[in-house]
Amino acid sequence: MNFYGRDFLRILDFSEDELRCFLDIAKKFKEMKREGRSHKYFPNKNIAILFEKTSTRTRCSFEVAGYDLGMGVTFLDPSGSQMGHKESIADTARVLARLYDGIEYRGFDQKIVDDLAKYAEVPVWNGLTDECHPTQALGDFLTIQEHFGELKGLTLAFVGDTRNNVANSLMAMSAKMGVNFIACGPAELRPSDEIVAACRPIAEKNGCTITITDDIAELESRADVIYTDVWLSLGEPQEKWGERIELLKSYQVNAEMMNKAKDSAIFLHCLPSFHDLNTSIARDVNKVFGISEMEVTNEVFESDKSLVFEQAENRMHTIKAVMFLTLYKKEEK
Ligand code: CP
Ligand code: NVA
Repeated sequence: MNFYGRDFLRILDFSEDELRCFLDIAKKFKEMKREGRSHKYFPNKNIAILFEKTSTRTRCSFEVAGYDLGMGVTFLDPSGSQMGHKESIADTARVLARLYDGIEYRGFDQKIVDDLAKYAEVPVWNGLTDECHPTQALGDFLTIQEHFGELKGLTLAFVGDTRNNVANSLMAMSAKMGVNFIACGPAELRPSDEIVAACRPIAEKNGCTITITDDIAELESRADVIYTDVWLSLGEPQEKWGERIELLKSYQVNAEMMNKAKDSAIFLHCLPSFHDLNTSIARDVNKVFGISEMEVTNEVFESDKSLVFEQAENRMHTIKAVMFLTLYKKEEK
């Protein structure tokens, strides 16, 4: 397997063996970190991380992983750089590739990160676009693998806005890794035909299924993992809250839904999450629509079944594996 110099733009660009390799290396890095063993492989490298949308986990994971690998890290957002408003992404890419050894990008259209990769002669890593969130799916599958020991044959149910970026990457990752995938949400928010057509043949080849349904009963005794995400993603207009709440309120992950899944089922969420009124957005929504918990109840979020903080930690270990493998040249020490 050769990862050196490659971009990390979407899950579908990688084979099952390659994805497994990212998970294996991430596991090793996690052990090294826990044991306090230094792994500064790249003292002479620097990376730039570009964020056109806000972030806590992804930004901090790239920064900490970068420092742990011995690299210098520069954070850029539109307010502190020329990116987007005064300089095109193509020009920004070509400038940054002269200065840095790798570039992370979080933003809107997938085409932007694809163009960045086209123009930058260094690895480009996708830190979330409107279309997908591949580093999230890697971290999630490390969490699932750690918990269940084995991935093949498990069933992951993504409940809610099943056509969003996180759902798309999880469908692709499930198909690649032999995990049955259920997208459970309203017909209006079903995954695109394009993504399903891309993933289904891969799933069939790997002996797993992709189910698209609006019926919560389909989770009955089947799901090993119940996964949800916010009902309105970054970049979507706030005016859509009313429509989304109407469409999605019956897909809230609550104790009743968790009880429908297998007894051993776990709850996952990419975070951030609206499970209480401790955020300004949740309070604003509460004032207008009267709901105090959205995609998941506080009871489920805080329950023993919830592995959301393990999942958040695993973002860092898997991002480190992605950077390491795409930057590491055999002759380098
Ligand atoms: N899950 C995730 O990507 O979180 P951030 O938006 O905080 O990076
Ligand atoms: N679907 C969410 C994921 C955040 C990590 C969003 O795009 O805002």
